[in-house]
Amino acid sequence: MHELVIVLDFGGQYNQLIARRVRECNVYCEVKSYKTDLEEIKRLNPKAIIFTGGPNSVYLEDSPKVDKAIFELGIPILGICYGCQLMAYTLGGNVEAAENASEYGMTETEFNTSSPLFKGLKDKSVTWMSHTDYISKLPEGFKSVAHTADCPVAAMENTDAKLYGIQYHPEVMHTENGTAMLRNFLYEVCNCSGDWSMSNYAQTAIKNIREKVGSGKVLLALSGGVDSSVLAALLSKAVGNQLTCIFVDHGLMRKNEGDEVEAAFKDWDVNFVRVNAGERFLSKLKGVSDPETKRKIIGEEFIRVFEDEAKKIGKVDFLAQGTIYPDVIESGSGDAAVIKSHHNVGGLPDYVDFKEIVEPLRLLFKDEVRQLGIELGLADYLVWRQPFPGPGLAIRIIGDITEDKIAILQDADYIFREEIANAGMDKDINQYFAVLTSMRSVGVMGDSRTYDYTLALRGVTTTDFMTADFARIPYDVLAKISSRIVNEVKNINRVVYDITTKPPSTIEWE
Ligand code: XMP
Repeated sequence: MHELVIVLDFGGQYNQLIARRVRECNVYCEVKSYKTDLEEIKRLNPKAIIFTGGPNSVYLEDSPKVDKAIFELGIPILGICYGCQLMAYTLGGNVEAAENASEYGMTETEFNTSSPLFKGLKDKSVTWMSHTDYISKLPEGFKSVAHTADCPVAAMENTDAKLYGIQYHPEVMHTENGTAMLRNFLYEVCNCSGDWSMSNYAQTAIKNIREKVGSGKVLLALSGGVDSSVLAALLSKAVGNQLTCIFVDHGLMRKNEGDEVEAAFKDWDVNFVRVNAGERFLSKLKGVSDPETKRKIIGEEFIRVFEDEAKKIGKVDFLAQGTIYPDVIESGSGDAAVIKSHHNVGGLPDYVDFKEIVEPLRLLFKDEVRQLGIELGLADYLVWRQPFPGPGLAIRIIGDITEDKIAILQDADYIFREEIANAGMDKDINQYFAVLTSMRSVGVMGDSRTYDYTLALRGVTTTDFMTADFARIPYDVLAKISSRIVNEVKNINRVVYDITTKPPSTIEWE
């Protein structure tokens, strides 16, 4: 069993980021709602508890609170932003709104480096602040160990009680040494040993899967995305060819992608079934131009194809699912999960004859899934794949879909990706792809007039895909891409670059 740190979520926007940072320090960490029962916390026996920030003011009646007894458990606690104020307020300090003491953004901060939190770090550096309330009086037993020009308590501590609070956000990258401060809390205050690493995790997961699965059969729907590919690799290491992967190729993948996914698993010990269902999907999509209808058709057909294949295999014992931690995380406000649900294609195939579900990635963040993939020796191509929507190119061809349009888009998108890689930008742009607008315009090629498609290029930088900025691809890279596309791909005579942010646009065009 790993040592555990609990992040108690008070509705802050960085709750997952805090947990990821703790894990980067090699300490396993879970996010729980601030409503988590004290008895449950005791049962989990964490090495530490971290209170997140949150949008409320502690002195308001309906703002989230904690049972005061949490401070008497003897478990070290670190409060961040709202969490810090809550600690001060609950223990008898004063928290007030004050015009002069509210701070936003990068703030020069001075630290008392004799505090274990700041041990070995600079006594002056920049922190990321975002607060209107401030601690005007410390609770008994506490002293201030950092301040800014406007804020007398940027950090506080009660070393005897192992209680610490910081007003800024150590988890965001704008806070200089933020991760080092969290590391100090974990190692200097909480005496963590740091037993969380992906190689440990791989070994434990393989052992647990073997115990659970025994000699049973496992079935997995492989999409070729990062999560399902890493899952396939992990299960293959654990139970070899007791695993069957069904890879439904709906014919709406990017150029060569179906073959690449198949090739990546060629040497793995696994039953790999590729279903080339392109024609089946295309016939269902014929004449359909509404985006949501396309999604629905593809989702349903996907399940149907999978079902047909699964029937051939017959009874299995386990169905594997690539659920990852952000899909299951409890949030303080309870809203986080809803936003993404419309993106899930398909759903649980409950018609497949199986006993139980295995979800060995359930505890991992996306970047940990990637690390696990590397640890397991999965092809780089799959580990670093950019997100690709379940409905594939169907939602990147505006309007109705034909075989010709798919081929045009695949060729153009391929050139775009190739040139982005040539420019060394493939890991900096979080998602980039071509869109066939289906709009035609007049052009001239050689001596003839053309009347052909306009292709749009989309490239975004984002951390969470909820908001995004358009990627600043240099003009000369765009020029090369544009010139290659109009020269090499038939039926495209115009290329445009999408320079809208999300919101108000979305990342995909449909
Ligand atoms: P939007 O277009 O909503 O996209 O800004 C945000 C992220 O979600 C992906 N996306 C989808 N993924 N099925 C999926 O599996 C879908 O129907 C779908 N629609 C959008 C999109 O590629 C981006 O990463």
